[in-house]
Amino acid sequence: MITRLQNVKRLGAELGAGALETLFFEDGVILGWNLDRQADQTLDGRGGTVVPALIELHAHLREPGQEEKEDLESGLAAAAAGGYGTVVSMPNTAPVVDDPALVRSLIAKAEGLGYARLRPAAALTKGQKGEQLAELALLKEAGAVTFTDDGRTNEDARMLRLGLEYAHSLGLVVSVHAEDATLRADGVMNEGAVSESLGLPGNPVAAEAARVARDVELARLTGARLHIQHLSSARALEIVRRAKADGIVVTCEVCPHHLTLTDEALRSFDAMYKVAPPLRTQADAEALLEGLRDGTVDCLATDHAPHTSAEKERDLLQAPFGIPSIEVAFPLMYTRFADVLGPAKIVELFTSAPARVMGWTLPSLEEGAPADLTVLDFETEREVKVSEFKSKARFSPWAGEKLRGWPVLTVVGGRVAFERASRPDTNS
Ligand code: DOR
Repeated sequence: MITRLQNVKRLGAELGAGALETLFFEDGVILGWNLDRQADQTLDGRGGTVVPALIELHAHLREPGQEEKEDLESGLAAAAAGGYGTVVSMPNTAPVVDDPALVRSLIAKAEGLGYARLRPAAALTKGQKGEQLAELALLKEAGAVTFTDDGRTNEDARMLRLGLEYAHSLGLVVSVHAEDATLRADGVMNEGAVSESLGLPGNPVAAEAARVARDVELARLTGARLHIQHLSSARALEIVRRAKADGIVVTCEVCPHHLTLTDEALRSFDAMYKVAPPLRTQADAEALLEGLRDGTVDCLATDHAPHTSAEKERDLLQAPFGIPSIEVAFPLMYTRFADVLGPAKIVELFTSAPARVMGWTLPSLEEGAPADLTVLDFETEREVKVSEFKSKARFSPWAGEKLRGWPVLTVVGGRVAFERASRPDTNS
């Protein structure tokens, strides 16, 4: 079946100035632009800008075992609504994704849903316990795309070394949640002036910086590809900057919440803002933005971490860590930072940049590429409405904010995975 997507602009230097064009695809593969072809189906991009579908390297979809928080269906539908065509899911589920049969069944189930593609991460160690490596070769064969004990930390340096060596021999990246658990201890927020004034246990920057320093040394030692997840502090970023200057193969991601929120938000005592690693200071957020500008930070990822409202309504000491953001990440980044980074750079940080981190073929809208694409509306301001979320986590630090840059159409493998109602509802 041939589909034409009409009334779209291409992302150019002069954003919004582009002419309206038509993109053709057939059976999930792009045929080309402005062809003189009949089509079986027509999609209307409504004047939006078409880009390759966004790629998410870090989302908690909670299946199996925690479906009250999220499941593949709600999580991948939420991802498609956020403009994502591909999602790397984290393995800290119940049971942990350390079994090739489980990787296969998750992929098979996701394929049947018709939302974003699932490319699961598998655990680096069995049960994410840090004691024994998981069956990395079999997990790769089953479809795992990276190994990580995310959600937990890698306390045993020798185990991480072995994991890096093994993963490297398989050509895959090891992704790490870089915090020293002994130093983080029972900290529920950034350690600093705000935690002191609130009397809450703090998690110092040193917990992240010390662990990043150790992990880049392991990358140096092994020559393996190390990816540092959700970097949150200026200190840790500086260590990555120096490691890169030294030629160490290390990449890192930052999350929208660490760029747009600070530990001041915890003054509300609202556990919605409780996340690991924690929200830091304004100076940290600014350093991370500079890291995006100068290329020290490789890509954006959400660390979408859904929990039930009941869990997040507990007090700060009891509530679980995590902020859901997969449905708002792009418009949030676009609205806040298009002036500083430019729209093309922001799109890159959500598309080619994560693909480069994983060593995947770079996404493109040229003939022969998969028809995975997203139409973005840079013009219309829409409010963040949690009631409209596809995610089961219907709360958001950005609820009520007016944002631009919303995905209005997401196509995955040539099929519509998400379409936004054409006019924002202004009544509620
Ligand atoms: O805030 C977080 N939430 N950080 C993590 O590392 C895990 C995640 C989760 O699974 O909820």
